[in-house]
Amino acid sequence: MILRRLLKRATVRLGILIYQANNKIARETLPEFGNTPRNLRIDLPRRIVNPERMFLGDDVRLGPGSLLVAITHYPTPPMQHPEKNQVKQEFNPRIVIGHRVTATSNLTVAAVSEIAIEDDVMFASNVNLTDGLHGYENANEPYKYQKMFRIAPIRIKRGCWIGQNVVILPGVTIGEYAIVGANSVVTKSIPDRCIAVGAPARVIKKWDDTTQSWVPAAETETKQGASAGIARA
Ligand SMILES: CC(C)(COP(=O)(O)OP(=O)(O)OC[C@H]1O[C@@H](n2cnc3c(N)ncnc32)[C@H](O)[C@@H]1OP(=O)(O)O)[C@@H](O)C(=O)NCCC(=O)NCCS
Repeated sequence: MILRRLLKRATVRLGILIYQANNKIARETLPEFGNTPRNLRIDLPRRIVNPERMFLGDDVRLGPGSLLVAITHYPTPPMQHPEKNQVKQEFNPRIVIGHRVTATSNLTVAAVSEIAIEDDVMFASNVNLTDGLHGYENANEPYKYQKMFRIAPIRIKRGCWIGQNVVILPGVTIGEYAIVGANSVVTKSIPDRCIAVGAPARVIKKWDDTTQSWVPAAETETKQGASAGIARA
């Protein structure tokens, strides 16, 4: 009995030591970014490619499994055809992450142009932001060997909440204080202070400043339609 209790205590102590060592390694092996952020934490495991092209605010916290990649050329080695010489693409990417941005885990930010995340954005787990697509012009050629295309910057404006498993496609801007619901695929920009859900994401609610509450988007459209009707009459 006593032996079991001692063993349990030792196991817990060992667990705490491993956790502390992991945090220390994560802190001390952070790469050099384009600036010098204060109080930055990006948990292990993580993959950060071309950090000098990334600019981070203070007090940023990204949970385990982050993939931050500034892609300067394509194909990258894993996308290189074993025999053919693919067309080489060169990029000048930038990733900007504002102050106090947080992600629970597995945040992917892959930029060939620019991905900008403003202050106080909150990401749940498994969010993917990629500002270019793999080419699929030719259905007889593995897509990984085709040119990247539809390249357009992504911007996530301040104070947003991006739910679990969200994918944000190239060219999308998420407006200030907007919310994107879990499992959404955002194909078009979302205005400020709106809630959007689904695949493709559609606005379901808008913030009403007069009543200081969220109202169904259909209701606001009806109201706008009615006042336009009055104005015309
Ligand atoms: C977006 C969200 C905040 C909306 O919450 P809400 O305002 O309470 O929405 P409601 O429950 O009133 O739903 C309104 C409608 O949208 C639908 N809806 C809500 N969230 C949805 C989602 N993520 N995907 C698809 N439809 C959704 C509802 O089914 C409902 O449809 P109906 O009118 O046909 O019945 C919430 O649903 C959500 O997805 N939160 C993110 C959760 C998350 O990722 N947590 C991880 C930890 S941060």
